[in-house]
Amino acid sequence: MTKILMVCLGNICRSPLAEGILKSKLFRANVVIDSAGTGAYHIGEKPDNRSIAIAKINGIDISDQRARKFLVEDFDEFDLIYVMDNENYRDVTAMARNINDKAKVKMILNEVFPKDNLDVPDPYLGGDYGFKNVFKMLDEACEIIAKKINPNG
Ligand code: 4NP
Repeated sequence: MTKILMVCLGNICRSPLAEGILKSKLFRANVVIDSAGTGAYHIGEKPDNRSIAIAKINGIDISDQRARKFLVEDFDEFDLIYVMDNENYRDVTAMARNINDKAKVKMILNEVFPKDNLDVPDPYLGGDYGFKNVFKMLDEACEIIAKKINPNG
């Protein structure tokens, strides 16, 4: 069974969307998908209302998710750790205990634009358009991830 963790800073905007989108594409597959944040600001909170709204428009319910912090034990629990931006990459890999841990960490947009290390922009301080844009980027990346894990859909 493949276990995938989506990571951003607050675990209320981007990674909850990534979790919800990938789950929606892999609901038939034998996978575990979760999300976490590198920061502790929003532990226990629901996703941002704008993330809940853009997911809902696209037929995905993420309102049951609750924010949690990324833990070093997540390196043991998960096979793949997708981070949203370069800052998340630095923060998560700084916690890696060995090369095995570090090798699990991947920039999610490298699935779409390999090796470019592009950020999924943090939409927290922006408007609704930012969330629409983030949804589109994550949908594209998750489509590729889902095809790799479950080629027969
Ligand atoms: P996220 O967005 O990392 O996509 O969940 C953020 C949410 C909250 C904060 C930063 C980013 N914050 O600083 O509170």
